[in-house]
Amino acid sequence: MVITVINNKGGTGKTTISVNLAASVARSGYNVLLIDLDSQASAAFYLGLSREELEPSLADVLFNELPITEAIRETDIPGLDIVPGGIELAHSDLILADVAGREDCLLKAIKPVKNHYDFIICDCSPSISTLSVNALIASDTYLVPITPQYLSLEGLVSLMEAVDKIKTGMGLNANLLGIVINMVSTASQQTRSQANIIGLVREHYQKAVFTNFIKRYAKLEEAPAHGCSIFEYAPKSPAALQYNMLAQEVLSRCGMEDKAV
Ligand SMILES: Nc1ncnc2c1ncn2[C@@H]1O[C@H](COP(=O)(O)OP(=O)(O)OP(=O)(O)O)[C@@H](O)[C@H]1O
Ligand SMILES: [Mg+2]
Repeated sequence: MVITVINNKGGTGKTTISVNLAASVARSGYNVLLIDLDSQASAAFYLGLSREELEPSLADVLFNELPITEAIRETDIPGLDIVPGGIELAHSDLILADVAGREDCLLKAIKPVKNHYDFIICDCSPSISTLSVNALIASDTYLVPITPQYLSLEGLVSLMEAVDKIKTGMGLNANLLGIVINMVSTASQQTRSQANIIGLVREHYQKAVFTNFIKRYAKLEEAPAHGCSIFEYAPKSPAALQYNMLAQEVLSRCGMEDKAV
């Protein structure tokens, strides 16, 4: 199962969700590969890789025909591997502009390892670039994190339209796994407008919205600085609990079960 985590709006939690979802699913007994499609290599840094460890990166796989097996690193989390992003990915639109089949590079690259992994999770950068199109083409399904703000809601409508256009244009089958509402304020801090926006999203997108949402937690903001997922940084925290519940819902939507139970 290949899942793309996508939203062209920045800072909605794509990387946080990709990393912690990947970690939770790996802890459930699955083999998981996290592919970092961001030139900022945020997912790689999040999981503790240093700047010197970013090479070879996904850029070498996509642009220099390096076999993906040579760019895969094990992480400290059993069952979770990563292909790091890197700064060269920032020029992917230019580099791939004249390449025939430029939208299929990732699909072809992951073919040799697809059977080895139960889940491949693609963390996109905040744009609808050639790389994001590559991720969608390589994916069975996509997940959209949003924050409960008015501009996020407007962005979500545009994103869904853009993805639908790509799907129609490319004859894609990838379906929407769901929308995750992220960084929800705790009840005491929640403004009326935030509650209204969450209501509107649920009313409009109905079952597409995950029942489990993620609240705003300082521990989630702190974890990347320690180079680990929320499950190593604060395993007993409410944030870890919420991520496990979200991961269970993801597994269930994918028709899979928690192998660790
Ligand atoms: N539930 C949460 N509670 C508190 N902080 C969060 C939460 N989710 C994400 N963050 C923080 O918000 C910031 C943006 O999150 P993240 O980097 O995951 O978003 P992104 O969509 O990947 O961003 P970009 O568009 O730049 O790739 C980060 O500092 C992250 O630690
Ligand atoms: Mg990110």
